[in-house]
Amino acid sequence: MDLTLKIWRQTGPDDKGGLVTYQVADISPDMSFLEMLDVLNETLNAQGDEPIAFDSDCREGICGMCGLMISGHAHGPERTTTCQLHMRSFKDGDTITVEPWRAEAFPVIRDLVVDRGSLDRMIQAGGYISANTGSAPDAHATPVPKDKADRAFMAAECIGCGACVAACPNASGMLFLGAKITHLGELPQGQPERDARVVSMVNQHDHEGFGGCTNIGACTSACPKGIPQDVISQLNLDLRTALKNGR
Ligand code: SF4
Ligand code: FES
Repeated sequence: MDLTLKIWRQTGPDDKGGLVTYQVADISPDMSFLEMLDVLNETLNAQGDEPIAFDSDCREGICGMCGLMISGHAHGPERTTTCQLHMRSFKDGDTITVEPWRAEAFPVIRDLVVDRGSLDRMIQAGGYISANTGSAPDAHATPVPKDKADRAFMAAECIGCGACVAACPNASGMLFLGAKITHLGELPQGQPERDARVVSMVNQHDHEGFGGCTNIGACTSACPKGIPQDVISQLNLDLRTALKNGR
């Protein structure tokens, strides 16, 4: 495939940035999107030009590092991570626009790389269990009903990629936050800190500049792990309960 790429270039946080057009040729449909960018970078390197900065790590859909806005869609046209998107999702002659995540809480560092430290600071605010759970218990010592275990596992699939924020017109982080609250709140070990956790994490969410949820649903549609919107209902319920309990 021969493609036209319009890629966001920005030398640093204070640079205004803009789209730059590149042509790539002989792209295999079996390449991943990131491999296609690797090919372009090899050409830029060979020409003595500055390669395009973008993030990736596992390239297996599990680390959450690789988010890009591809022709207006977070992670591109398929419901997957950018590293698991393949060029067979495009056709010969296409023009593809590639931009970084856009959100106040995700400042651009360079080109397509954004600082997603705001998600880490939300986790630091309460996305953990510090209750003493003792030494490793027998497998059945703390029974967890199957429906709760399944829901905790579902929510734990969130990889912190930030696509939900990028897709949301409000740049809300509430799908991510709802996933973390649901993951820990479904388990017995998560109960001692449940009220404190939700209040602290919501405060950090708002402090970071994420917007509020207005039930648009773009977050869920973009989420590569299929985190459902009802984790946001759980988040709101937990917050109301915590405030009622005097938190
Ligand atoms: S909820 Fe989905 S889209 Fe949002 S950070 Fe987690 S995995 Fe990514
Ligand atoms: S590079 Fe790890 S999820 Fe894409």
